[in-house]
Amino acid sequence: MKKIAILTSGGDAPGMNACIRAAVRAALAHDLDIVGIRWGYAGLMNGDIVPLDRRSVTNIIHHGGTILGTARSEEFRTESGRMKAINVLQQKSIDGLILIGGDGTFRGGTLLSQESGISVVGVPGTIDNDCYGTDYTIGFDTAVNTAVEAIDRIRDTATAHDRLFFVEVMGRHTGFIALESGIAGGAEELLIPEVPMDSDQLCKRLAEYFKGGKKSAIVVVSEAEHPGVTFRISREVKEKAGFDSKVCILGHIQRGGAPSARDRVLASRLGAAAVKALLDNRGGYMVGEINREIAYTPLKDTWEKQNSLHPGLTDLLHILSG
Ligand code: F6P
Repeated sequence: MKKIAILTSGGDAPGMNACIRAAVRAALAHDLDIVGIRWGYAGLMNGDIVPLDRRSVTNIIHHGGTILGTARSEEFRTESGRMKAINVLQQKSIDGLILIGGDGTFRGGTLLSQESGISVVGVPGTIDNDCYGTDYTIGFDTAVNTAVEAIDRIRDTATAHDRLFFVEVMGRHTGFIALESGIAGGAEELLIPEVPMDSDQLCKRLAEYFKGGKKSAIVVVSEAEHPGVTFRISREVKEKAGFDSKVCILGHIQRGGAPSARDRVLASRLGAAAVKALLDNRGGYMVGEINREIAYTPLKDTWEKQNSLHPGLTDLLHILSG
């Protein structure tokens, strides 16, 4: 292995830059050439490639976003799109590829690896934490901290006005961000796809809290693939129980900002591990961290299998709230 490439794909996540930095410096330490592919798979198909050296990743560890840019590419889902990408990789004599992204990125990466024979290693980078094969994805910790900071602020105004608030967080089809930010923010209730609750049940629980002396409450809601769903829930609660409520959608605020120390360490570790995996002929795998050890999971498993919520955490929220 002489020359490797790195790209970021899908939604950006805080810590992606720290991961790029680590991969570049680890590659150089192993005397590998490394190039960056801009704008994810779209850039790969178009040959949008830049050389990377030690200095090109200076002073980026603390920045959110990704210096390489990212995109979601429909064309790469097609065989002809992937053929374009394979031609570029061959023309540029790239024999190893590091993909930083989430399950969508690894779906594409699985096919690319099978169709090209080029070594492809994935690194989990998404705020959603929905990749099988790692305890945490890069960006999740920062996103949770951002959500908690917002919930704390909303708590102040909710208390000042005796109000019910619904706070919607991201997470696509999962409730990881909602669960951890809900516990850390002391939320009264949680609406996540993994533990369905209808508006009747929610109204009943909220009524119990208010009967017990609570005057304000926060319900953390996972967007569950339908950003804005919270407006409907809030309306239903108002119609059924008469509770007046406010809705706050955190949205893309959760994707930006400086990565937390935890995300920087994880990203640094996984970036270096990805280079090592390529050198050790572990193409077709994702590097993750499980119980503090580096873990290798077939790329296919990362999106075919489900990462489950921490058992017990949802129960804990209900024991502690109210
Ligand atoms: O996958 C990360 C994520 O932020 C999800 O939580 C969210 O559903 C989605 O991306 C939003 O995507 P976009 O930025 O393309 O609107």
